[in-house]
Amino acid sequence: MSESAFLRCIRPACATTIGLTEPRYDCPTCGALLDVAYDWNRLQPPGDGRFFDERAGRRSEPLDFSGVWRFRELLPFAPEEAMVTVGEGQTLLQAPDVAAMDLPLKQGRLHLQYEGMNPSGSFKDNGMAAATTMARLLGRRRLACASTGNTSASMALYASLARLADGTPMRGIVFVGAGKIAVGKLSQALDYGALTLQIAGDFDACMRRIREAAERLDLYLMNSVNPFRLEGQKTIIYRILQALKWEVPDWIVVPGGNLGNTSAFGKALVELREFGLISRLPRLAVVNAEGANTLFTLYTDHGLRWNGGDWDSACAERFYEQMSASGRKAATVASAIEIARPVNLPKALRSLEATDGVVTQVSDEQILDDKARVGRCGFGCEPASAAGVAGLRRLLADGTIDKGASVVCILTGHVLKDPDATVRYHTGTETGAASDSPAARAGRLSNKPVPVADDLDAICQLIEAEI
Ligand code: F0G
Repeated sequence: MSESAFLRCIRPACATTIGLTEPRYDCPTCGALLDVAYDWNRLQPPGDGRFFDERAGRRSEPLDFSGVWRFRELLPFAPEEAMVTVGEGQTLLQAPDVAAMDLPLKQGRLHLQYEGMNPSGSFKDNGMAAATTMARLLGRRRLACASTGNTSASMALYASLARLADGTPMRGIVFVGAGKIAVGKLSQALDYGALTLQIAGDFDACMRRIREAAERLDLYLMNSVNPFRLEGQKTIIYRILQALKWEVPDWIVVPGGNLGNTSAFGKALVELREFGLISRLPRLAVVNAEGANTLFTLYTDHGLRWNGGDWDSACAERFYEQMSASGRKAATVASAIEIARPVNLPKALRSLEATDGVVTQVSDEQILDDKARVGRCGFGCEPASAAGVAGLRRLLADGTIDKGASVVCILTGHVLKDPDATVRYHTGTETGAASDSPAARAGRLSNKPVPVADDLDAICQLIEAEI
């Protein structure tokens, strides 16, 4: 374990530090979240991004090939021999056809960071590579998480192949809300052999229970309250910048659920500026679904800010109390971000302050229409990912993002994660929905399957008529 890395309370006024060997997720002094911090004076990270470039092509060197560990000098908490990798982070920054996306940006100014290319099909693998490495260093065998699906899929994958230093296999334990996660993700947790508990509740309930269970049974918590997850997720930013030859885009647009990415991205960017790898920060735009819009409401309606670390946590508590009292729960087609109580809220506020960020929200209909547009451009994604694109559309329309800006949208998860949502959109067959209800109508940009007789003439006629 690195002697130059430690845990530190995120509140500058507290700044309690703890050694890495203490597996904690919150500050023992004030209860705030923790960062992984480094004594950079002792470590001296490279001051030029080109340092990392030649590693990317070395397929025969697993740590160089990994899109996470290629940047190991920027998350230096573990020795190389402990680093766990399954070849995560082989993502390409794509420049889609903006006309086909129906976005008023200049061609070449929009990029999609396609995280669906990861081994388990979502960005979570970046964080799991790092957090599983830490579990290994700590000798923790039982890995646990609550999930809207992707965290569980990714953790189950890493737990199924990682071993402790003495060869002991790890085990994954996942809590998911019964009926709350998309079928692709559930199938992964089952296939990778995780103990999968379907809790009669939503993600927020699962999150509360997993924290209690982890405490009682001494399980290692792999949700993004685990600060090592966020260290891994910093590398999404590094890969974007590497692909842009370390030219900083104007905006990075990301869907917000538990706000792990938002938190990790801000930390990554601030650190890069400290090292001199970049000279200015892009602005972050975080996109909530309207049905799960805690950050949007607190940021926009209540004016909640990080405030240099002196954030008004009572404001968030009051909001949660009102939510409980009224029985309101998160509800959106983008099940991955169906979260009412984002655990990383203060860290996300810090990222927004550092990057002069903005928060917006989009409807389920906008999400699904943009999912179809992304799909048509060949970069299929799941609904939560399309929320980012829908948010970009909204921010362009209201003038927050300039049409001449350079923008990177993070596509967080693969299209096959939630096939039900896709088929429902294109065919308009919501199971159990009345045939005249909105749920039973195909989406605006649907591509309906066409029934045809088993007859060659009829088939050919139909093709000629269509294309
Ligand atoms: N997009 C996808 C596909 C996700 O799975 C998630 C989160 C997010 C966006 C939101 O990211 O939490 O960093 O703000 N999924 C978690 C899970 C919560 O359990 O799989 P965030």
